[in-house]
Amino acid sequence: MKDLGTILNDFQSEIQDVHNEDDLNRIKGKYVGRKSVLNDFFQEMKTLSPDEKKDIGQKINELKSFIEKVLMDKTRVMEQEKKTKNRVDVTLPGKKQWSGSFHPIIMTMYHIVDIFQSLGFRVETGPEIETDYYNFEALNFPPDHPARDAQDSFFLGQGYLLRTHTSPAQVRIMEKTKPPFKVVIPGKCYRRDPMDASHSLMFHQIEGLVVANKISMGDLKGTIEIFAHRFFGADRRLRFRPSFFPFTEPSAEVDVSCGICGGKGCRSCGHSGWLEVMGAGLVHPNVFRSTGYNPQEVRGFAFGMGVERSTLLKFGVPDMRWFYENDMSFLEQFKTVR
Ligand code: DAH
Repeated sequence: MKDLGTILNDFQSEIQDVHNEDDLNRIKGKYVGRKSVLNDFFQEMKTLSPDEKKDIGQKINELKSFIEKVLMDKTRVMEQEKKTKNRVDVTLPGKKQWSGSFHPIIMTMYHIVDIFQSLGFRVETGPEIETDYYNFEALNFPPDHPARDAQDSFFLGQGYLLRTHTSPAQVRIMEKTKPPFKVVIPGKCYRRDPMDASHSLMFHQIEGLVVANKISMGDLKGTIEIFAHRFFGADRRLRFRPSFFPFTEPSAEVDVSCGICGGKGCRSCGHSGWLEVMGAGLVHPNVFRSTGYNPQEVRGFAFGMGVERSTLLKFGVPDMRWFYENDMSFLEQFKTVR
């Protein structure tokens, strides 16, 4: 039979290898259970004298309570480990969910379209690949007219080109619609311009067209004023400057007072106090003729504005190229706007 010192040594080395409940139960049974090695000692004791019994009994009991204490401690440690292993630490920072959002250009486009829809305008679209006829000729740009120079396109051959403005959609809509009507046409346009802070070879416009039997410059001014006050702010003033577009007569360039200096003049507005926001005018009789309308019977006003430009002005972005660089730290700033 082993002596008590060997049992203690065995126990201490075996307890090191206890890693789970099964190990723990096994070792409990072996050292303190009913059939444990210590029990064997108690059996043996029957043959000893009372003094010997007392002495060895005390030693066995001491060893037993030591072993029980170690086993209890081990049980507690293992329970603790189990708890921490399965615990959810609610104070840890969560996993950030990345959510997408509208591009600032698209956001501005929706905003502008919303305003016109609230004024009773319908939304239409037109093709980005156009013919020379719709992009120029039907809009009263004769083949060699110098006004074409300002809108150099990407020519695709066989009479096709990428539209340089959204105005050709005016013609397509008039061809298929009976007046009176009010439409806005948002969309992409393309020009063969070198990229700089205010030019891009792809950009967005919103075209507006209203046709009825009685339409005047007053209707145009009133409509644009409502739009500008809602979009830019009620404190902004408007100015209509005479201009030229082949498809309108009279034609105007619409300026809004600078939001940065309040119209006094600063670097952003080139010290003029005004910012150009759109071209507009009354529809030219030749445009009505090319769509089959009788210019004696209908009148109309039209306007076209750059979405990039409006976004620059609204948010104070200094360079149009920033919209296309896909720099998330720039784009994410617009997430909460609208
Ligand atoms: N299409 C013109 C351009 O891109 C803008 C424009 C001017 C549109 C006057 C209009 C308008 O409808 O009436 O430069």
